[in-house]
Amino acid sequence: MAARIAVLFLLSLAGTSSAQQLSTSFYSSSCPGVYDAVKSVMNSAIAKEKRMGASILRLFFHDCFVQGCDASLLLDDTSSFQGEKMATPNNGSVRGFEVIDAVKSAVEKVCPGVVSCADILAIAARDSVVILGGPNWNVKVGRRDSTTASFSGANNNIPPPSSGLANLTSLFAAQGLSQKDMVALSGAHTIGQARCTNFRAHVYNDTDINSPFAKTRQSGCPSTSGSGDNNLAPLDFQTPTIFENNYYKNLVNKEGLLHSDQELFNGGATDSQVRSYVSSQSAFFADFVTGMIKMGDITPLTGSNGQIRKNCRRVN
Ligand code: HEM
Repeated sequence: MAARIAVLFLLSLAGTSSAQQLSTSFYSSSCPGVYDAVKSVMNSAIAKEKRMGASILRLFFHDCFVQGCDASLLLDDTSSFQGEKMATPNNGSVRGFEVIDAVKSAVEKVCPGVVSCADILAIAARDSVVILGGPNWNVKVGRRDSTTASFSGANNNIPPPSSGLANLTSLFAAQGLSQKDMVALSGAHTIGQARCTNFRAHVYNDTDINSPFAKTRQSGCPSTSGSGDNNLAPLDFQTPTIFENNYYKNLVNKEGLLHSDQELFNGGATDSQVRSYVSSQSAFFADFVTGMIKMGDITPLTGSNGQIRKNCRRVN
């Protein structure tokens, strides 16, 4: 009898635990169609604009670093609610919310009320990497959506491009990610674009940059702060819409676009890891996948915590 009570007690704990694990099979009976639905919208969005894959991958990163992967980033500001979209790392920079809305509608058509926006973002980020030529992996799911957001978390947790290696390392460590994960995940900068305001200081003032490359980047980015701030340049000048290891090849040639990029290859502890990815794209892909899975595990809401939002932009 006592043993039976103990078992029932343990079962009830499991049912309410907030530490439930994500799993790759969470939707296998409740929404097996979710993967095809996400993929088809991502395929069309990226066919229309290749950069969109990069933009969606970045949304996942900026979501996970602020109170975990809970779709807090997707919430719109209202007169009574402060979201994360206007925080410094996001304001005028994050994009792709309309694509996430389109994915959510497609998923709601196949299984209404079942799949969280947080999981949609995780799957869409994986699909973006695959569509642009990167590695594939099984996405762990079972996250639920937050009813809150953190403006200060977005300002404090997401590393600025002025960061040095120590700051990058400690901001990733604060999320349970190693320096090795940080270097591998930074390989995401093999796709996408950055604004002049974020690379101006590096291309005008830093010395760890090759000068023809600095000159080219200066030509599209006026030195005066406030002029041309939103002019874009590719993070990987060679192939900004292909996911491969060119980002690391650029770093070895001192052609990183952001100050923070070049910090990964600047005579410090991470140089050897960068070199290893230059010589082995498969080593980069394997470590990138490990990093993405670890990042996706950052403090998810599970069980009965949070909610499944109907509209990713607002709390139900
Ligand atoms: C290591 C620290 C990181 C720093 C300091 C950093 C910083 C930045 C900055 C400043 C931009 C350009 C934003 C703009 O100018 O509007 C950017 C773009 C981007 N970042 Fe990062 N990032 C970091 C790590 C990551 C990670 C871990 C990922 C994903 C796994 C990621 C994915 C991207 C992508 C794909 C873009 C291009 C987005 C687009 O074209 O819309 N970044 N990042």
